[in-house]
Amino acid sequence: MNKQQTNEFDKIILTAFMVSLARQFTDIPYAKELAQLIETQGLVKLSQPQNQDKSVLLTARIEARYKAINQVIAQYQITQVLELASGLLPRGLLMSSNPNITFIESDLPKMISCKQQLIQQLVVERPNLYFLEIDATNHPSEFWKSTPLLKAGQPVMILCEGLLTHLTLLEKQLVCANVREILHSYGGVWITPDFIDTGSLVRSQQDDSDLQKLLQTGTNLTGRSLVNNNFGTLDQARQFVYEQGFRVTEHSMLNVIDELSCLEILGIDPEVVRRMLAAQSVFALTLDSPSS
Ligand SMILES: C[S@@+](CC[C@H](N)C(=O)[O-])C[C@H]1O[C@@H](n2cnc3c(N)ncnc32)[C@H](O)[C@@H]1O
Repeated sequence: MNKQQTNEFDKIILTAFMVSLARQFTDIPYAKELAQLIETQGLVKLSQPQNQDKSVLLTARIEARYKAINQVIAQYQITQVLELASGLLPRGLLMSSNPNITFIESDLPKMISCKQQLIQQLVVERPNLYFLEIDATNHPSEFWKSTPLLKAGQPVMILCEGLLTHLTLLEKQLVCANVREILHSYGGVWITPDFIDTGSLVRSQQDDSDLQKLLQTGTNLTGRSLVNNNFGTLDQARQFVYEQGFRVTEHSMLNVIDELSCLEILGIDPEVVRRMLAAQSVFALTLDSPSS
């Protein structure tokens, strides 16, 4: 059994269950299976209203970011992947069905041990899928736990979705420093939709009062405000990543609007989703000066 120390970030773990329950209203492979396991095994003790709250825009956001990241991943020929804050994402399960891919899922100890147990119920053996306890903000870095699993001299793809949005500016800087170290050693790219501006979040809440309720639930659970912890404008987010030593290529989430299954499943107005996604991008970050 993994060590189960209490971590100041543990309260954020519950949001992984909320997101996973939202993902069941999509056609993302394994999303329904994972959500069902969570429900049948009573893995999350959200109170009744929290359990039943759902926001159509949250589901659209979650599906869009997952599929937009996949689209960006497909542009790189990188076969070793380190996913931060994996939560209950099914990407590792899916991508590791290709035996040429080394996929490392990571999260806080309590979350990653739960994830590993759930995945073992869905697939018997996946020798190229690994689970590591990594606090992405830790200094010294815990990313080095992945070194024995990575091939030296080959680039690494680092992924994360829905992590930085919960972190303070200082904590985001710690994650950036840890990512920089790995990219310096291996080369590669960091793909994330997590540099968001609060303006777009506030506008989406005006379009969907359920989203407002759900984000408030998240804030109550984590003690962290998505609005306070993110950037006033997208330009401020860009400025931040430049200052952290990254070069950025942006990929609009509108690129996946036609792939969103939840629009039909939940009967969502595509125009509202289009408005929301117009302000959302996946960032592909590489080191500004790889050799320095
Ligand atoms: C909103 S959930 C997103 C989970 C998953 N990426 C997804 O999109 O479904 C936030 C995740 O961040 C993880 N987390 C929180 N603080 C962390 C930290 N310091 N290091 C690594 N993971 C962390 C939580 O355990 C949780 O799984």
